[in-house]
Amino acid sequence: DSINPAYAAWDDQNVPSGPSFQFRSGDCHDGMSFFGLNNSTGRYDSSASEQGLLVMNHEYINPTFLHPKGPTKPNGRRPEDEVIREVNAHGVSVVHIKKDKTNQKVEIVQNSIFNRRITGSTIMDFNGPVAGNPLLATQYSPVGLKTRGTHNNCGNGYTPWGTYLTTEENFNQYFSRDDIGRDANSIVALDRYKIPAASSYKWHTVKATEDSRTNDIKDLNIQDIYDRWLTKVSGAEAKDDFRNTTNTFGWIVEIDPFNGSHTPVKRTALGRFAHEDCRASRAIAGQPLAFYMGDDSQGEYIYKFVSDALWDAKDINGGYTAGDKYMNSGKLYVAKFNFDTATEKSTGEWVELNINNPLISAYAKYKFADQADVLVNTRLAADAVGATKMDRPEWVAVNPKNGEVYVTLTNNSSRGTAHPLDSANPRNYADADKGGSPKGNINGHIIRFKETGDVVTASTFTWDIFLFGAEQDSIQDVNLSKLGADNDFSSPDGMWFDPRGVLWIQTDDGSYTDETNCMMLAALPGQVGDGQVKTTAGLPTPTGAELDNTKLRRFLTGPAGCEITGVTMTPDYKAIFINIQHPGNNWSANHPSALNLSKAVLGSRPRSATLVITRVDGGAIAGEALETTKAS
Ligand code: FEO
Ligand code: CA
Ligand code: CA
Ligand code: CA
Repeated sequence: DSINPAYAAWDDQNVPSGPSFQFRSGDCHDGMSFFGLNNSTGRYDSSASEQGLLVMNHEYINPTFLHPKGPTKPNGRRPEDEVIREVNAHGVSVVHIKKDKTNQKVEIVQNSIFNRRITGSTIMDFNGPVAGNPLLATQYSPVGLKTRGTHNNCGNGYTPWGTYLTTEENFNQYFSRDDIGRDANSIVALDRYKIPAASSYKWHTVKATEDSRTNDIKDLNIQDIYDRWLTKVSGAEAKDDFRNTTNTFGWIVEIDPFNGSHTPVKRTALGRFAHEDCRASRAIAGQPLAFYMGDDSQGEYIYKFVSDALWDAKDINGGYTAGDKYMNSGKLYVAKFNFDTATEKSTGEWVELNINNPLISAYAKYKFADQADVLVNTRLAADAVGATKMDRPEWVAVNPKNGEVYVTLTNNSSRGTAHPLDSANPRNYADADKGGSPKGNINGHIIRFKETGDVVTASTFTWDIFLFGAEQDSIQDVNLSKLGADNDFSSPDGMWFDPRGVLWIQTDDGSYTDETNCMMLAALPGQVGDGQVKTTAGLPTPTGAELDNTKLRRFLTGPAGCEITGVTMTPDYKAIFINIQHPGNNWSANHPSALNLSKAVLGSRPRSATLVITRVDGGAIAGEALETTKAS
């Protein structure tokens, strides 16, 4: 959809130009947050529901439906217009919306000055300990202070001062790689971050034309905006080529939705990995802030960053200056989960990723130059200290009632084989309907932890597994949470606590989709330690209390083929927004003839979409559930 009145509406039969996507919604909507807009100040207002900025990620693209005839590569090169469309369809949208307070109807304010796109080409600053480090030096920014673009933005977060945090997840897939002339250390780093020999996107193959000068990339050297997607040694030094271009992605990016004149900022103190989500701890006056984060890949880790600065509510609406205060200076930790089978106690520790730790400074597999190198190659530092390899850490949620932290572990087909079982990742089994040999952790789980002393600076925690994903008809020691027909689910991914304490859980699943589509559930959780130690295939694991369908209930299921992701509400709880990512094209409401790119007249193109849900009676969403809980 256009977010600027100068640009026409989407047309299935006549796909808009690549450059026009600077003023249109991107593809594959993902993480999303609503920021209330104060009518008189034009700034952030956490209590405003009638106007606000809906900020959302566009994780990736569906090239088949995005281009007039799908993606092409004549003579081995991608056409420039296709690549500009693809780069622009990634990133983030800021969309001004208003809600009628009597009937709750939500509309886009199409001519708002706040509407804006951040794309795979938008200029960004680096800040924090790695800014200006030689590891970020490129031909584009020889001093390592800038880069262009953000992409594969998956989970999200928001700060207590009113800015948006976007994440760079599978950034590696966009690069192609040449190792000639590299030293062994840099090859270890590229391998650890799974930078492929050849990207399927092939953005580096574009031959820039004069046309590219008329697009909105205001840059004199147009060819290098494509060249940078091939990382290789071609100049005398790093500042002369793009050998370091992959180091400029994989970060948390702060965006002030209310300030369109400042470039977004990549916050290097929070480390570099396949960032999936970034959730702030509760903002408590006089205490540090923590940001909890997952690295979504099989066997990767859970992290927290703890600010040196202490929270002061005067920083609300402080924009990037507040970001500099809380996100440039602090400590980065990785999690280790332990379970003592004799005492049945579950404990954990946070290991600081610091160059002064001999396990890091003397690590045999990779030689770290300094603390900035630890932040660029965070995964290698976490390997060095022996952090716990998890079943794909996705989103993170902080319980507003008690500060406990929840992390979705979506699934892991390698659990029990490449990654041995442990009590925090305890399942390896076969789908009861399909049979055959065990296929790892098929349905995923949600782990949660409580910081010792309820302070974010704690170096230890206790934990349990809040819920195990499972089919209701799974065998007993797979369906450990005793899920039933109203609440069974598979592959939890998106997750958010609304400020009342309702936990929204979303799925991105391929295991239970033979029986149902991806879905969203609502939960009213208790606390760490409220359940029992159970066993699965003989391995003990601490589980949360079983929840009946008054405490855990399916809220919706999506159309075929989609992932449900992204959830936010207006502060009055009367509108909830969710994203339908990459729906298939075979649901009944679609055009009767399925999309066929070879036909002159096409069927409709399935597009990702944002849904807003309001109640017929205009009341608070999930309001009765909370009333029932209060009464009982
Ligand atoms: Fe983009 Fe980990 O889901
Ligand atoms: Ca079943
Ligand atoms: Ca996700
Ligand atoms: Ca099944």
